[in-house]
Amino acid sequence: MPSPREIIEKALQENRTKLLEHEALSLVEAYGVPVPGYGLAQTADEAVEIAEKIGYPVVLKIVSPDIVHKSDVGGVIVGLTTPDEVRKAFSEIINNVKKHVPDARITGILVQKMAPKGAIEVVVGAIRDPVFGPAIMFGLGGIFIEVFKDVSFRVVPFSEQDAEEMIKEVKAYKIIRGYRNIAPRDIDSLIKIIMAVQNLMKENPEINEMDLNPILSYEKGKGALAVDVRIILKK
Ligand SMILES: Nc1ncnc2c1ncn2[C@@H]1O[C@H](COP(=O)(O)OP(=O)(O)OP(=O)(O)O)[C@@H](O)[C@H]1O
Ligand SMILES: [Mg+2]
Repeated sequence: MPSPREIIEKALQENRTKLLEHEALSLVEAYGVPVPGYGLAQTADEAVEIAEKIGYPVVLKIVSPDIVHKSDVGGVIVGLTTPDEVRKAFSEIINNVKKHVPDARITGILVQKMAPKGAIEVVVGAIRDPVFGPAIMFGLGGIFIEVFKDVSFRVVPFSEQDAEEMIKEVKAYKIIRGYRNIAPRDIDSLIKIIMAVQNLMKENPEINEMDLNPILSYEKGKGALAVDVRIILKK
């Protein structure tokens, strides 16, 4: 796998401001963010090969420099359990994308291992302000962020303790610490991810913004997995 430097420089040389799915995953992975196993397939046969290697069930996702929201164009199919299903999903995604965005360049299809059930979806984001520098955001996925704007921010640099406070100050912390049938989440793994994103923003000034959306957060002792990473570079 190429280093974070190599990934960023290649994208800039090719005039791409959005890193491709597999590039963004490998970049956060290099900074210690846990991600499910994955590979990039050019053909349906390759997709099956990767699925066999990483293990079923898998999810297939379109990889294109021209597509931002993969789900919106039928570019994500989850829960595939057999080679046959992988082949079918491969051509279905290609067809969906050609229908919705006829001009989109298709780099390939990401084959990613399905993360286990039992997760709560959280989001860690980062922006780089021209005056204040990078700031990191934390919140619970879906309606909590979109409807309630329930998020917390810290300007870089900050400590692990600050990262913990970020998690504790969102209203949805009531869910994270355990509520009725929801077991308490693995907060240490979320702190580690927030610190990793902070380091990424510190060490790579070319990154303008990023989003780990969603991060699947499991119960205490069981960690977290980032399944979708969006990284935008400066023009
Ligand atoms: N590896 C995985 N394991 C389990 N669930 C997954 C996995 N990858 C994706 N999902 C589920 O599918 C959803 C959509 O996938 P993803 O975030 O990669 O695509 P997207 O196009 O960015 O979606 P959106 O724009 O709606 O956020 C995720 O929010 C998550 O719920
Ligand atoms: Mg997403």
